[in-house]
Parts: sequence; C-alpha cells; structure tokens
Amino acid sequence: MNIFHVVGARPNFMKAAPVWQALRAYHQVRQSLVHTGQHYDEAMSDVFFRQLDLPTPDVNLEVGAGTHAQQTAAIIARLGPLFEEARPDWVIVYGDVNSTVAAALVAAKLGVRLAHVEAGLRSFDRSMPEEINRVVTDQLSDLLFTPSSDGNENLAREGISPAKVHLVGNVMIDTLIRLLPRARSFAQEAPPSFLLVTLHRAANVDDPVFLTNVMETLARVSERIPVIFPLHPRTRQRIADWNLEALAGRLRLLPPFSYLEFLAWQGKATAVVTDSGGVQEETSFLGVPCYTLRDNTERPVTITLGTNTLVGRDLDRLEAELNKLLNGNVSQRDVKSIPLWDGKASERIASILTH
Ligand code: UD1
Repeated sequence: MNIFHVVGARPNFMKAAPVWQALRAYHQVRQSLVHTGQHYDEAMSDVFFRQLDLPTPDVNLEVGAGTHAQQTAAIIARLGPLFEEARPDWVIVYGDVNSTVAAALVAAKLGVRLAHVEAGLRSFDRSMPEEINRVVTDQLSDLLFTPSSDGNENLAREGISPAKVHLVGNVMIDTLIRLLPRARSFAQEAPPSFLLVTLHRAANVDDPVFLTNVMETLARVSERIPVIFPLHPRTRQRIADWNLEALAGRLRLLPPFSYLEFLAWQGKATAVVTDSGGVQEETSFLGVPCYTLRDNTERPVTITLGTNTLVGRDLDRLEAELNKLLNGNVSQRDVKSIPLWDGKASERIASILTH
C-alpha cells in the first residue's frame, strides 16, 4: 500500500508526525512525504521536522509565499504530475491550510483516494480562508478523521455519509503527549509568571488599527506581567510596516519558537492570548487559560470542556479578562478531559486506513 502524506505549513507538521510513526508499524505500507514549501524558513519548517522526528521530505515543491490563488495554483500544478506518475493508493492531508485543499483537489481529480485528518471542524465563517479549505477538502475526501464529535455532526449536516467518517481524537495531542517530557528542558529562562501571545491571522495583523490597538493593550498589560510574544514572519513585517516598534519595546518580541520551545512556554504560562486554532487545543489540554482574539472558533470543545474564552476582537474585554485573572478573581476552570484526546488518535487512523 502506497501512501503519500502532503504537508506544507507549520501546523501540519505536528499532525503528520504521529500518523507517519503509527503507519510505520504496518509492513505492507510504503510512505512518501511531500512538502509543498508553503512554509520554508528554518524557524517555520526545518526545526519542526527535526524535533518531531519527521523524515526529510521525499519531494519539496518549493512553492513559497504568494497570494492564495498563486500558492494554491502552484501546488496543484506541481503535485499533478507527481501523483499521476506515482499513483498512490492513498493521499493523506492535514488540517485546513492552502496546501491541504490543493492536494485534495489534485487527488480527487485523479481518482486517488483521499484521507483528511482533522476533518469536520467548522467556524461557519466563510470570510476565513481556512473555512473554505475545510469545506472543500471534506467534500472531496473518501475517509474523514474527526478530532471531536462536533465534527461528525457538521459533516452529517453537509450530507457526507457517516460511513466515511471516523471519530479518532486529536493527532496534535498525540504529539504533545509524546514530546512533553522532552520539552521540559526548554523555557528555563521563563519568569515565574508571564503572558504568552501569538498572533498571525491576516484578519488581525493586516489591519493597522487593530494591530496598533493590540500593541497598546499589551504594552499596558506588560506593566502588570511580562509579555512574551514570539512573532510569525507576517506579524514581524506588519510591526515594522506600521512603525509599532516603540510600543513593541515594552514587550519581549522573539523569533518564532520551535515546537518544543513553544510547548514548554505554553506549559509555564499564566495565560495565553492567541488567534491560532491549534493553540486553543494545546492550552486546553495543558489546563492553561487561553483568550482567543477571534469572533468564532472551529474548535468549540475548547470552550465547553477546555480553557478557552473567545473575546472577539474586543480589546477592552481582553484587558478586563486579563485584569480579572491577574487580580485572582477567576476561579480555576474545571477542565474536563476531552474524549479521545488520549495520545492514540494516530494509531486509530493507521488501523482504519490499513484495514
Ligand atoms: C498559514 C495558514 C494558516 C495557519 C498558519 C500557521 C493558509 C490559508 N493559512 O498562514 O491557517 O494558521 O499558516 O502559521 O494556508 N512567511 C515567511 N516564512 C515562512 C512562511 C511564511 O516569511 O516560512 C511569510 C511570507 O511573507 C508569507 C506570509 O508569511 O507571505 C504568510 O504565509 P502563508 O503561508 O501565506 O500564510 P500564513 O499566514 O502563515
């Protein structure tokens, strides 16, 4: 059985790694890894391959940065001949990035069977590029692996046959559980309490008024608690574009963290402020309060069972929530363990795929 995994962006790597490892246990499986090159920096890509024990990709399509149209089209154009020649039995795609939907389109049009890991998540907000990627990828997939039961409900509502859908749990948590012990040697220099911030979504950081307000809010918060802010390349660029360095001077702005560094800093944080999807899940698992600067989430289980609070794009609310937390006026959230987020999701996927 010939399986191709397609990855491209930072959040794909920690999802593909455990599935790759789990499939190695099956002697009939031959695996190939394709990197689209959507993320290409050492800090956004290579370091993740090393820390996650992912092999060097068999192929790198080197598509690099561009508009959504350019990036998606370049992946489709370069992946087409590859799949036509290799004729994989299965293509596995992960999450909701442009590389995911591009590979899904190529596989589906060639009649190659397609499996989607992290299927069924919905924000119900089509202004989010990832939502479009999710809906299209799920419609094209032959096997859909969901991390939580809301995913199964969403897929049923969209008319996808339940026979194709398997609730397996969260593969990203498989990686977290495996690597948490190794992360312990990182973030040694962390202060006793601090706020960890990550922001990279175009809807947030490409808006000069909003980003300025964010930096002003964080600068005020930093008078109460140190603010640690590893920067996605897009966010670093925008801070430079709009001369926000003076405000930024009050915060600890750092290059992007590696996987193990970020995991270690998350584990030690007093709270996390983010607009990422995966961070809502990781903080929920770690029991660290998370404030999400988005109006919606495709991961509602992080609110109902986890530590996530959606604050929208309301920075007054964010500041009020943080002050409440720092004043000790927030009772410890009773974090319930999320069903099937148990470190075994990728084993379940490997078993289903091979049978
Ligand atoms: C992509 C995903 C997003 C995910 C995020 C994680 C899509 C639609 N979006 O967004 O869902 O949360 O990855 O990071 O696929 N850049 C570099 N070096 C890199 C990669 C990017 O400098 O290694 C810069 C480039 O200027 C690029 C910009 O970052 O134009 C944005 O990269 P891109 O891959 O287009 O989207 P992300 O914002 O990273």
